[in-house]
This record gives sequence, C-alpha cells and structure tokens, in this order.
Amino acid sequence: MAAKRPGVLGRMRAAVHREARGGAAQRARPPRQTLYRGIIEMTRQGVWVFDADYRTTFVNPQLALMLGYSAEELLGTRLPAHVRGWDAGAAPDGADGPNAQIDCRLRRKDGSLLPVLLSISWSAGEPGDGAITGLAMVTDITELKRTEVALARARDEALEASRLKSQFLANTSHEIRTPMTVILGMNELLLETGLDETQRKFADAVTRAGNGLLAIINDILDFSKIEAGRLDLELVDVAVRAVVGDVVSFLAGPAEAKGLRLVSVCDRAVPETVLGDANRLRQILLNLAANAVKFTETGAVVIRVDPAPGGIRVEVSDTGIGIAPEQLGLLFRPFSQVDPSMTRRFGGTGLGLAIAAQLVDAMGGQVGVESTVGTGSTFWFEIPAEPVLTGTGSPPPEGVDRFTSNV
Ligand SMILES: Nc1ncnc2c1ncn2[C@@H]1O[C@H](COP(=O)(O)OP(=O)(O)OP(=O)(O)O)[C@@H](O)[C@H]1O
Ligand SMILES: [Mg+2]
Repeated sequence: MAAKRPGVLGRMRAAVHREARGGAAQRARPPRQTLYRGIIEMTRQGVWVFDADYRTTFVNPQLALMLGYSAEELLGTRLPAHVRGWDAGAAPDGADGPNAQIDCRLRRKDGSLLPVLLSISWSAGEPGDGAITGLAMVTDITELKRTEVALARARDEALEASRLKSQFLANTSHEIRTPMTVILGMNELLLETGLDETQRKFADAVTRAGNGLLAIINDILDFSKIEAGRLDLELVDVAVRAVVGDVVSFLAGPAEAKGLRLVSVCDRAVPETVLGDANRLRQILLNLAANAVKFTETGAVVIRVDPAPGGIRVEVSDTGIGIAPEQLGLLFRPFSQVDPSMTRRFGGTGLGLAIAAQLVDAMGGQVGVESTVGTGSTFWFEIPAEPVLTGTGSPPPEGVDRFTSNV
C-alpha cells in the first residue's frame, strides 16, 4: 500500500514547526564568550592562567575557593610561590616540560596544605599577542591521597600480620619438633627392648606416624623461615651424583611399592663436585621426585641432570596424572593443591613445591614445569653451581651415568 502524502495544510504545519524549532535553537545558543566563561566558572577544577614568568593573570572562582584567597589577591602572584618546595626554589620534576603533570601541595592562605594535581600547558603563541601563555588545571586530590595513605597503611599492617604469623609458625614448629624428636628417640629405644609382636607393631606405627609428622613440621619450619627471611644457604662442596643417589634410594621403596621404575641419569659433563648447599639441593630434588612418585600410578619417574650455563639443570619427569594448563601457574604458590579431593587421596600440605621454588630462588636459579593431563609432567630447575676442580682438569668424558633403583 502506498504511503499517504501530506496535504497542503500538513506541509504548512511542518514548515511552521521547523521554523519554530530553528528559531528556538538560535535563541538557546549563548554567545561563545558567555559559554566559555560559564564553563570556567562552573568547572570543579581550578583554572590558573599565567605569563611566561608564572605570574598570575587569571584564576577562576573555584581556584580562589580552594586556596582561601579572593581572585584579586592571587592576580600578579607567581604560581611557584604557592607550591610547597617550589617556593623554596626546587621546581618539581618535569615542571619545565611542555605538558607537566605535577603531583604537589599548594599552600592555602591559612597556611594549610592542599594536595593537588597541576596539569600545566604552555601556549605555542608569542607572548604579548593577547593569547594565554601558561595554563594550569588544578585538581584537588585530597580524597585520592587519603585513600593512598589508608591503602599503604592497610598493606603495611597486612605485611606485619603476615610476618608475625610466619614467626609464630616458625616458633611453634620449632617447639613441636623438639619433643617430637624425643618421642621418636624413645620409641627407637623401646623397639630395642624385648617387645612381643603386637607391641612391636604398635611401636612401629608410632615411628611411621612420628616420622610423617616430623616431615610436615620440618616443611612448615622451612617455609616460615624462608618467609621470614631467616634462611641461610651454605656454600660447601656438593657431590652432585651422591645427592641424586640419596634421593633415589630414599624413594626406591615407595616407587617399588607402586610398581614404578625410578631412574636417574647424570650427564658426564656435569662436574663431580660443585659449590652449593647439598642439603637444600637434596630437599628440592626430593620434593619434586616425591611428587612424581606420589602422582604417578604406572610407568616411570626419571631424574635427569645436565650441565647448564654457569650451573646445572635437573629435570624430574613422570608418566603420572599430569596437571591442567590453568593450574600450572598456581603450583609454586604455598598451600596450593590442584584438587582438594587429591589431598584426601594422596595427603600432603601443599608446601613442597612452594619450598622448592623458594629454595631455587634463594640459590639464584629458576624453576618450571611442563605437563599434559593424563600423560605426565616434567618439573625442572636450573641453579648456578660453580665446579670444584678436583681431578686432572681434563675435559669430562661424553655419556651419562645411569642409576636405576628397580626395573
Ligand atoms: N608430578 C606431579 N604430577 C601431578 N601433579 C602434581 C605433581 N607435582 C605436584 N603436583 C600438584 O601440585 C600440588 C602441589 O604440590 P606440593 O608438592 O606443593 O604439595 P603436596 O605434594 O600436595 O603436599 P606436600 O608436598 O606439602 O606434602 C599437588 O597437590 C598436586 O596437585
Ligand atoms: Mg609434594
């Protein structure tokens, strides 16, 4: 259906309407000067206009209000005379730039200080041709500063609370460890006495549980010591292959119990002895390898040691459950366990990797992981390790030293 065309009367009415609208718009539009003055007077920012020597030629009412002066009192005064520090001759950083953003404090008439942000711009025109030379937009940042101070205070309090908690953990775990070693020692002596079979079974259970508890306490103690910045690393001769051998022997039992192959491969180019902290190196490797055994049901766990620029690279690969990509970034954070149900199944506090990562960091090294869910994971770390020259100094033979705990 064709649209209905307006008749003569309709067209006239529309023309009158258009005219009326146009006229109203004309009437509503203020002259430019009035418009600009309105903007300058209504804005909540201070507007400060000055000549090449920062001498004030104009201020808006808001600026006068901010500083507690009348506009007339400010005319002719120099802007730097109102800025704390600048009044004594020290211009704030970047003040001379073409577009300065200055975080500073203005002195009010009553002597109090007002935190502001000064955004200064300079005109490109020649001075004296009637154009504005310098213009500063002044923003009151009192609230912002107050929030900044409150945030900084909250952060300091949180840091202090965290430090106290670490210290408390360190003290408590230390206090628990002392009687724990006594319990284990006494139990050891008890086991040497004439116990019947049932009594021996009970005492063995005390040893096992006691050792488990001691391992957790040691982890907490280490973690809190590292957090509190109280960890000291030794710098002694470290027999790298012996450290790897210790870890393999320690985990041989648990690996065998699960039917896993546990293999260590050490490239011959890795020096026999390096400078470092043997106990801490063993601890890092043990944490990674114990995880590999814990989270692998079938297959193998392989520990590989290779030379790296300025040190050694250690890799622990497994054919275990793997880790989802979104979880990888969380692993080295304290108390993070991929899946809470896993904790019930496998046990652990979630501190092992955090401690390992912090120790590697303290040694000046790096730690990382690659993993595929269902296929397995490779955790690696590289640490600086200066070789200790013991032999003839001849280049190392090629090949690897291999140690397999079980096949
Ligand atoms: N080789 C691995 N394969 C699969 N998941 C792993 C592996 N190593 C670590 N994870 C995941 O990372 C989490 C954190 O490991 P971490 O060693 O810090 O804690 P944990 O082994 O659970 O407890 P803890 O070491 O304190 O006894 C583990 O709970 C597990 O979810
Ligand atoms: Mg662990």
